[in-house]
Amino acid sequence: MVSIHVLLRCKSTVFVCIDLAYLVMQSFFILQISGEWSRGLFVIKPEDEDIHTANERRLKELIGAPAGKLHTGRSRNDQVVTDMRLWLRDAISTLTDNALQLMSTMVERAAAEIDVLFPGYTHMQRAQPIRWSHWILSHAVALSRDVDRLLEIKKRVNVLPLGRGPVNENDYLQLEFDSISLNSMDATGQRDFVAEFLFWASLCLTHLSKMAEDLMLYSTKEFSFISLSDCAGFMMTLKGLPSSYNKDLQEDKEAMFDCYDTVHAVLQVTTGVMSTLKINQSVMEAALSSDMLATDLAYYLVRKGVPFREAHGISGKAVFAAESKNIALNQLTVIFSIYPLFLHFSPLFGSDVSSVWDYRSSVEQYSAPGGTAKCSVAAQVEHLRNWLQKRTQ
Ligand SMILES: *[C@@H]1O[C@H](CO)[C@@H](O)[C@H](O)[C@H]1NC(C)=O
Repeated sequence: MVSIHVLLRCKSTVFVCIDLAYLVMQSFFILQISGEWSRGLFVIKPEDEDIHTANERRLKELIGAPAGKLHTGRSRNDQVVTDMRLWLRDAISTLTDNALQLMSTMVERAAAEIDVLFPGYTHMQRAQPIRWSHWILSHAVALSRDVDRLLEIKKRVNVLPLGRGPVNENDYLQLEFDSISLNSMDATGQRDFVAEFLFWASLCLTHLSKMAEDLMLYSTKEFSFISLSDCAGFMMTLKGLPSSYNKDLQEDKEAMFDCYDTVHAVLQVTTGVMSTLKINQSVMEAALSSDMLATDLAYYLVRKGVPFREAHGISGKAVFAAESKNIALNQLTVIFSIYPLFLHFSPLFGSDVSSVWDYRSSVEQYSAPGGTAKCSVAAQVEHLRNWLQKRTQ
């Protein structure tokens, strides 16, 4: 019963053709059986162990004894592994397209909403103002590594494993394999290509889960930064998924199909979520507060000649003082009047300190590659657009 799964799952003419290619003379019957599969008319009988014995049995019904020649040069295991590799190769192509489409949606969204600022979070605490696009692209960049990994795995999946008999040039050429396996025992005994795919899926789902978690947070009443359309409910079930993919490899086919179904669905839903969600720019920007600019205040002092460590200390004390008196950090003069401690430093704070309290200029200071400045984020968008173009024919 080994590949009844494969059989039920892939009623494609390809698999029938692999089995029957040797009997070129019987092309009429090949087409007939192939047609039975594609029209759903092929009857699976209880004695059929798998798709290969089923095809052979059917051919025997049609042409008699010569049908037995079907096994020439190949074992059942060879055929099962070939089926799995062909199936997974196609599945990988589909998933690559899904992931590229998601990335493209994200990159274009990042380009369109580049001017929107909101709080960047560390450990659930507001840390620094960042661009919303910077957040989107952080996840797109992770996905770009997932796509590259998947394309790498595909090379090792797309290997013709028919090893024990003479290699059939026709299989190799017609089925568009990249290479032929070097060793027949390795070809039939190893399922590492499935393990690699399962690992890939769990890593990709981990990335998507991280993104879903942020989106979920941003969409709560507490935050109200974004509102999600209906398909988002599915997305939210994603959180628990990544850990469930450590299945016994005995169940390799089931795990492979299952994994594919999940990632295929999740990538498409995520594309839906990312293209339909609505942001509320005013709420996002209203969530910025001056305590997020403590680091900027420290840099201001550094520019006035205060050593960084000391500047950081002063800025920290100012934040603490402001918090304990419930005064916004940008009311520095009020803070100074309450805390004589700061009078010592106050000569350093000129009227130009007001420039520190600007979120946009705060974000703009990080103009190095990968930073939050508009030019840096725009460069990331450009980079990813080129990257996508290279991988989308
Ligand atoms: C953004 O949120 C505010 C406050 O909840 C609301 O008044 C406003 O209509 C929202 N804007 C959009 C575009 O949804």
